[in-house]
Amino acid sequence: MTTRAIEQKIEQLREALEQHSYAYHVLDDPLIPDIEYDALFRALQQLESDHPHLVTAASPTQRIGAKPSDAFPPAEHAEPMLSLGNVFDAEELEAFETRIRDRLGEDTEIEYTAEPKIDGLAVSLVYEKGVLVRGATRGDGFTGEDITENIRTIRSVPLRLQKHQDLPGRLEVRGEVFMPKKGFEEINAQAREEGKKPFVNPRNAAAGALRRLDPRETAGYPLDAFFYNATGVAKQTSVRTQFGVLLYLKKMGLKTCAEAQQVSGRQGCLDYHAAILEKRAVLDYELDGVVYKVNDLVSQEVLGMVSRAPRWAVAHKFPAQEAATRVADIRFQVGRTGALTPVAKLEPVFVGGATVSNATLHNMDEVNRKDVRIGDQVIIRRAGDVIPEVVKTILEPGAQRSDPVQAPGNCPECGSEVVQVEGEAMIRCSGGLYCPAQRKGVIRHFASRKAMDIEGLGTKLVDQLVDKGLVSSVKDLFHLAKDDLVELEFMGELSATNLLKAIEKSRDTTLARFIYALGIREVGEATAASLADQFRDLEPLQQADCEALQEVPDVGPVIAENITAFFRQPHNREVLSDLIRAGIGWQVIPRPDEQEQPLAGKTFVLTGRLEKFSRSEAALQLKSLGAKVTGSVSRKTTAVVAGENPGSKVDKAQSLGVDVLAEEDLLALLQDSQGPES
Ligand code: IVH
Repeated sequence: MTTRAIEQKIEQLREALEQHSYAYHVLDDPLIPDIEYDALFRALQQLESDHPHLVTAASPTQRIGAKPSDAFPPAEHAEPMLSLGNVFDAEELEAFETRIRDRLGEDTEIEYTAEPKIDGLAVSLVYEKGVLVRGATRGDGFTGEDITENIRTIRSVPLRLQKHQDLPGRLEVRGEVFMPKKGFEEINAQAREEGKKPFVNPRNAAAGALRRLDPRETAGYPLDAFFYNATGVAKQTSVRTQFGVLLYLKKMGLKTCAEAQQVSGRQGCLDYHAAILEKRAVLDYELDGVVYKVNDLVSQEVLGMVSRAPRWAVAHKFPAQEAATRVADIRFQVGRTGALTPVAKLEPVFVGGATVSNATLHNMDEVNRKDVRIGDQVIIRRAGDVIPEVVKTILEPGAQRSDPVQAPGNCPECGSEVVQVEGEAMIRCSGGLYCPAQRKGVIRHFASRKAMDIEGLGTKLVDQLVDKGLVSSVKDLFHLAKDDLVELEFMGELSATNLLKAIEKSRDTTLARFIYALGIREVGEATAASLADQFRDLEPLQQADCEALQEVPDVGPVIAENITAFFRQPHNREVLSDLIRAGIGWQVIPRPDEQEQPLAGKTFVLTGRLEKFSRSEAALQLKSLGAKVTGSVSRKTTAVVAGENPGSKVDKAQSLGVDVLAEEDLLALLQDSQGPES
């Protein structure tokens, strides 16, 4: 190839990669599967390594790799980065709106753009001729820190903007870098596992990750960003409203928050606030309120700012998620794997919309680090549906404190010795299934909705069954008699009959559910489904060695070892054969090439809560019929299956003209596709 041809090829690959990255991160509408993206990426890497003089900083291959620095140089902001005033209720909002109307001399309804107030870190990015040249923190509003290399590692931040006629030579955009909740949970779980200090909340995690002196470390954290402002667009482009700014940013290649909306007047704002508060738990980012911004950019200009906050915008905060209370006791709860979790019993306190009387302390390292003791005053935090946790102790000067908490040497439930596994922060009861708490945990898990789904077999009932000696292993569930059950507390004839029916019904299950129900360490619902998908029956799974297991998506060496260790245990083998003898069964899924594939070439996206089965189960059934199941909606999607509380994927489908199916439609489709004989 001539040099010119190579240059062209490189540019072509870069543009293709940028378009795919834009489609994936900003439009949430991937055009190609990940492996095709990877292939393009490797092709570019190869060409660049053959021709190193053609590498540019904005190449998609150059996101990560800059050397660590000693300190961040200061970065001055051309225009100060402002903060926001707050309102907490309808009355304060009214006062805000009245001030605006007075200043603008308007008596018609004010139009706003309402956006979530993302709990992350404000950043400013500068693009010159479309290329990212600087990323900075807010700092004191006038001067921040130059964190360009770290910003570049965030996948959803374009290194080059989309080519567009409305793109000025220099564009400064502002937004919020954050850590998605899911990523936050994962890195914290890992930190706890490794006995390292977890982050207090997603905001701190994002701040910590973004301010690493070594950008390669930043790259290891799941960071994301939403943008909401472009300075000077009103003067340089035809954009006239805040909502227009968001559309403009998106068009230029920057990710914006999909929840932003134009609303009218105070009532529109309040309705939006209520709707987002309701939706908060299902959003994958933390928000501490919403922001209302006067939509018209000229009005914004007229309103100006006061003491470093704009008059045209205000934050409407959500109720606090943290509260202070006192620790009445600290106990150790034994889970199904024997892990002893220290739990603080609290003086009940109302926080984030619920009364909380227990909060987890995670493990002994955390208890020691936070130095929480019985009688202490503590701050607790409740975020969405996450288990409340103790954030910190408030030391009261002069107050007499109790002794530091000691890890018990023996299991509080069964008296067996407590052990600490090398390299793990957790301490565990060594009693195994001798320990009633572990037995109860195993049985509860086995019966749970995503596992064998035995309706009516909840915590209280399992406790009674185990305490009375009626059930000591999951297999005993299948030999219960009505006479045994009616003896129990709160158990009449009818509920006994119903429970027996539910147990009976659970015999007919799927391999994925069954594998999940076994409670093998770190084999969650999704991994169980992948295992079932790969091995198709229990026997081949039991025979599989670590190598074969690792061919399954999301199975690494640790999980593979957990699985083989589980099946090696004679006790487990015995329970398995008892269960099979008790009549538990599933349909063996034929290999795809063994049959005509009725749904071959079709792609489905599943969203929301399904009634009759879990999403991963539905996915498995679809896949067994030859369909593909993916996570995001694109024009290539055949249909989106929407369960309860479906979220934005349905809107997306509608806007692309993709069919939306209800759960019944899916069931009908599966039935039709399976044909009359199965
Ligand atoms: S606008 C013009 N919009 O909140 C006012 N800020 O308290 C500048 N924030 O430093 C901010 N989400 O870090 C705006 N949708 C949003 C936001 C948002 C989060 C943060 C931002 C800012 C702070 C102001």
